[in-house]
Amino acid sequence: MDNDTKNENIRMEEIIKASAPHLELPAKESLGVKGIEPCTIVIMGATGDLTARKLVPSLFNLYLNDGLPNSFSIVGCGRTKLSDQQFRNKMKDALVAARLMNHSKWPSFAAALSYRSVDYMDLTSLISLAESLRELDQKHNTKGNRIFYLALPPSLYKQLAQMVGQAGLGKERENGNGWSRIVVEKPFGRDLKTAVALNYGIQEYFKEHQIFRIDHYLAKETVQNILIFRFANAIFEPIWNRRYIDHVNITASETLGVEHRAGYYEQAGVIRDMFQNHIMQLLALTAIEAPSQFETNRVRDEKVKVFRSLRPFPIEKLHEYIVLGQYGQGEIDGETVSAYRDEPGVNSHSLTPTFARMKVFIDNWRWQGVPFILTSGKRMAKKLTEIAIQFKGVPHSMFRQTLGETIEANRLALGIYPDEKITLTFQTKNPGAQVCLRSVTMDFSYHQKYTGPILDAYEKVLIDCMLGDQMLFWRQDGIEQCWSFLTPIVSECETCGNREEMLHFYKSGSWGPRDIGRIR
Ligand code: BG6
Repeated sequence: MDNDTKNENIRMEEIIKASAPHLELPAKESLGVKGIEPCTIVIMGATGDLTARKLVPSLFNLYLNDGLPNSFSIVGCGRTKLSDQQFRNKMKDALVAARLMNHSKWPSFAAALSYRSVDYMDLTSLISLAESLRELDQKHNTKGNRIFYLALPPSLYKQLAQMVGQAGLGKERENGNGWSRIVVEKPFGRDLKTAVALNYGIQEYFKEHQIFRIDHYLAKETVQNILIFRFANAIFEPIWNRRYIDHVNITASETLGVEHRAGYYEQAGVIRDMFQNHIMQLLALTAIEAPSQFETNRVRDEKVKVFRSLRPFPIEKLHEYIVLGQYGQGEIDGETVSAYRDEPGVNSHSLTPTFARMKVFIDNWRWQGVPFILTSGKRMAKKLTEIAIQFKGVPHSMFRQTLGETIEANRLALGIYPDEKITLTFQTKNPGAQVCLRSVTMDFSYHQKYTGPILDAYEKVLIDCMLGDQMLFWRQDGIEQCWSFLTPIVSECETCGNREEMLHFYKSGSWGPRDIGRIR
């Protein structure tokens, strides 16, 4: 152990002993995370919902499970004027609300929290933040390593990133800085043009290796498992192609409605909210070729190849490829819920889609002719996230004469929510004297025989940012390729003369518009 590390450990032990004398430092490997360097996490938008609901609870939970570096500090920034103590109190309330409060560990965590009031549009304010950060580096021994987490409305991303850059905070290993990383939440642009402009704006001050574009689906354990399942087992890859697969269904249905996010959702709609990011990533992981190594850029290269191979939608025959819907009144869990148009903040004539199903094709050797049916919607019958691989039927049924029935084809389901499991459906003989087939399933539950800590998606994202590992984040070219695929249909759906006819209403609590049957 070098002297710096020794000193950090002693310092942390002192803080912990001072705040909770009975506690011992936990073993460093409890989350299995190694190599996290000391750093400061600067949350811009620290008085907002995301900070209280997700970021600080995730950081605290990491702290409890020993997933933060020995030296760290968390700086909340916002326009509101707050003292450090007021910010700590707010965060304490948030942890209590999240039922995460651990009173013995809180004091030492709180000692690392501070707050700086910042006017994001004023460079002098950002320059004094830079000064404060240098002082905090000395105090917390964080070595000038910083993560800037933009927890603010997307319309501010570009300007904010540029301000941070102009204050000299994007430069690495200069002027007291160590490494510097910037975290951007989705949505990343509203179409190809705005995404390119945003990328360009951020890249004026941050290099690609410093930019972390979040997609929380990528951080879900079961999503990460798709690559392991496909490429760490020899038996699936040979049949993972057009010769054996009939079609693939990727579904992300939700029972929740628009909640309190009408302002954002009215502008976004389901294609920007779910398809441009989460569903595209699920599609890529299902379809990519095996990268030569499990290494960030090799995996991202393969994903981009998939996005580049997506067959453009024929705009003149769009109705054969896409169904859009919007939820009407209905019932969820026995309770009546209102129509989208009656939700607070939603225009009563809104044409924003809350549901979409689309059929897409990947024009490459492996997938030629195999439809990928992508479905996502709000206020549907069940919250379900699943990738279902539907295999082709047997080429010839020798049982036809005896059984007079068609044999159900095999199906492999990669369950992401609520069942984190892999299920293979196949045929067996029903026990008894008569030959009679029945479909059975072989199930693997993801958490079977695992008792270690489970990371939530935000915890995983934060750890990877601290480690500088970009595997689970979007790269610029991936975002832009997806936008080039989706922008023409988004703009057609939003500007064509028959917008109203394109939108099919469905009852809340159902599986979507009746019309979805035509996309299969
Ligand atoms: C978010 C969308 O990115 O993902 C939300 O903005 C959606 O509208 C959410 O509800 C779904 O995430 P999850 O993890 O609950 O499937």
